[in-house]
Amino acid sequence: MQKNNYGMPLMGLGTYGRRGAEGVAAMLAAIEIGYRHLDTAQSYDTERECGEALRQSGLARADMFITTKIDMPNFGSGKLIPSLRRSLDTIGIDQVDLTLIHWPSPHNQVPLPVYIEQLAEAQALGLTKTIGVSNFTIALLQQTQAILGAVPIANNQVECHPYLQNRKLVDFCAAAGIPVTAYQPIAKGTLVGDPVLEPLAAGKGCTVAQLAIAYAFARGLAAIPTSGKRERLASNFAAQELSLTPADMATIASLDRGTRRINPASAPAWD
Ligand SMILES: NC(=O)c1ccc[n+]([C@@H]2O[C@H](COP(=O)([O-])OP(=O)(O)OC[C@H]3O[C@@H](n4cnc5c(N)ncnc54)[C@H](OP(=O)(O)O)[C@@H]3O)[C@@H](O)[C@H]2O)c1
Repeated sequence: MQKNNYGMPLMGLGTYGRRGAEGVAAMLAAIEIGYRHLDTAQSYDTERECGEALRQSGLARADMFITTKIDMPNFGSGKLIPSLRRSLDTIGIDQVDLTLIHWPSPHNQVPLPVYIEQLAEAQALGLTKTIGVSNFTIALLQQTQAILGAVPIANNQVECHPYLQNRKLVDFCAAAGIPVTAYQPIAKGTLVGDPVLEPLAAGKGCTVAQLAIAYAFARGLAAIPTSGKRERLASNFAAQELSLTPADMATIASLDRGTRRINPASAPAWD
């Protein structure tokens, strides 16, 4: 399985909605299939399930890459580190592999340095191996890098799929050496029935979801699709074996229409 420079497997499992016994069962199925990267967040309420699945799987801690994300109410001075310690307790581990700021604080309500400095301190304390951000724009990434100095931003997790290809941001991150993770890489299942993707997938003997995931990998991104169904978990995982020709890439590139599925009022001014 391909990993980025910070040890993150490019194929990951999103865990939004994977709660309770069913959530643990889906994660265990994913682990059996070969997933070694779980993406959770304080706000998903799936940290406990991630820890439970890890323990039930019998895998060594070092064999699983775990990301969590700090929720906005925990950005204030003195709040971030205790919240990350609670996350570690909930998961049942000593250190996460990656901690992200889930969203930038709207209108700088909590000034950026306040939460970025606490994030860096959490890393220095060993609570997280690496640190990064999510839903950050180019301007916010530049400000974050200025605050962090030599400490690298190990990830920017953003919405990215064939209908929202985020080229300006992805190009900036590539040039700055900031790995990007594509969230909702299969656009929540809405690519099914697409008049361009369906015939392309049929011709290649794959699914449209596999095309979208392989497209993310071909662009150098990590992808974290989720499913509650074993067959889909397996077929999504198998997208790692799919190779796309330059013509396939051009066809999928043509589908970019800027359709942003996650765009709350509190979102930053997107690039
Ligand atoms: N940082 C952020 O702000 C942020 C925001 C959103 C999401 N995320 C992360 O990204 C992960 C993925 O996003 P998401 O869960 O919202 O959406 P997604 O992975 O793009 O799509 C999941 C949906 O697609 C369906 N699906 C899965 N595989 C399929 C396939 N092969 N063919 C057709 N449909 C399929 C699933 O239904 P079934 O379960 O019925 O298969 C589910 O309804 C999240 O779980 C979360 O970890 C991060």
